[in-house]
Amino acid sequence: MNLIPILSFTLLSMIASEQLENSNNKLPTILAIESSCDDTGVSIISNGKILSNVIANQTVHETYGGVVPELASRAHIENIVPTVRAAITKAQISLSDIDAFAFTQSPGLIGSLLVGAQFAKSLALSLEKPLIGVHHMQAHVLANLIDETNCPSFPFLCLTVSGGHTQIVKVTSPLKMEVLGETIDDAAGEAFDKSAKLLGLPYPGGPLIDKYAKDGNPTAFKFAEPQIPELNFSFSGMKTSVLYFLQKQEAGFIQENLVDLCASIQYTIIQILTKKLKKAVQQTGIRQVCIAGGVSANSGLRQALKDLGTKHGWKTYIPSFEYCTDNAAMIALTAHYKYLAGQFVGLDAVPSARAEWDNG
Ligand code: KG4
Ligand code: ZN
Repeated sequence: MNLIPILSFTLLSMIASEQLENSNNKLPTILAIESSCDDTGVSIISNGKILSNVIANQTVHETYGGVVPELASRAHIENIVPTVRAAITKAQISLSDIDAFAFTQSPGLIGSLLVGAQFAKSLALSLEKPLIGVHHMQAHVLANLIDETNCPSFPFLCLTVSGGHTQIVKVTSPLKMEVLGETIDDAAGEAFDKSAKLLGLPYPGGPLIDKYAKDGNPTAFKFAEPQIPELNFSFSGMKTSVLYFLQKQEAGFIQENLVDLCASIQYTIIQILTKKLKKAVQQTGIRQVCIAGGVSANSGLRQALKDLGTKHGWKTYIPSFEYCTDNAAMIALTAHYKYLAGQFVGLDAVPSARAEWDNG
């Protein structure tokens, strides 16, 4: 993908249209780009406050039943310039006010990551500003700190549940995190999406299961719950048990039982997640518990966490919806902490589809 000529041309015209005078903004003001999967997000953070958080969603994947990596990177190329412009306009700043540029470095779809990385690098290079690479999963966790009026103190536990990952993380400072357990196969989001596909629902099926589950009986059908040691998770057996169950049914069964099927699938996934979360609280003694990632938008999981908090005396935190699914505000906040810690990357920073956990 030869992005350099397109991006250089765009940058020159953007810079030319900016008034390059410094404002009185306190440091740091950071522009952050999130492009790990199928949404292009750009956010501006200044002095620890999110000034804008713009997202361009991609609808091109709906007909394919999942994200098509090549289509995702092409759509990022189309979306990145208008999204950056919109974030700057909404934040009411100019390009010259920005002290650093951040991008999601890993993990994610490599073609998608490259677009955000290349754009951030081009901005940093042309404006002679530092560059910050952010770990997407670390950023999901820190989404819990965006709302300063209602956020956990350290240490806290975070159940991070997204389309690609499921982890229980112990967080001792913004940049110090330890993964206590994670999935050994599918992620919780995949369990939702793959089960939804078996029910004939379009991608991404998680939000649709959530919607139909509201009118269904969560114990109408029973699906397999795996017995996995320690704090690790597994969802592939549960998905297979949904498949085998549906294969045994008559035609029309899914249509007649859709709400009960959705409620039962959702209930099973939430049971798997919350049992491990309880175990993590018991093992660590940490009673401040958060959730993060796309699946934390699930109304059943949000309610289950609140109920657990009430029952066991935990303090629970859930990010607002816009900060649960992929967004650039969480990248911006993580970059803010990395800026303060002097953690910058060079122009030779390489995005990675899979990455070791960045532990500050
Ligand atoms: O964090 P995210 O936006 O992207 C990744 O980093 O993967 O998570 C996307 C996942 C998808 O699997 C989607 O189905 C799921 O989050 N999701 C939900 C809900 N909203 C998004 N799953 C269940 N209920 C929801 N309301
Ligand atoms: Zn994500």
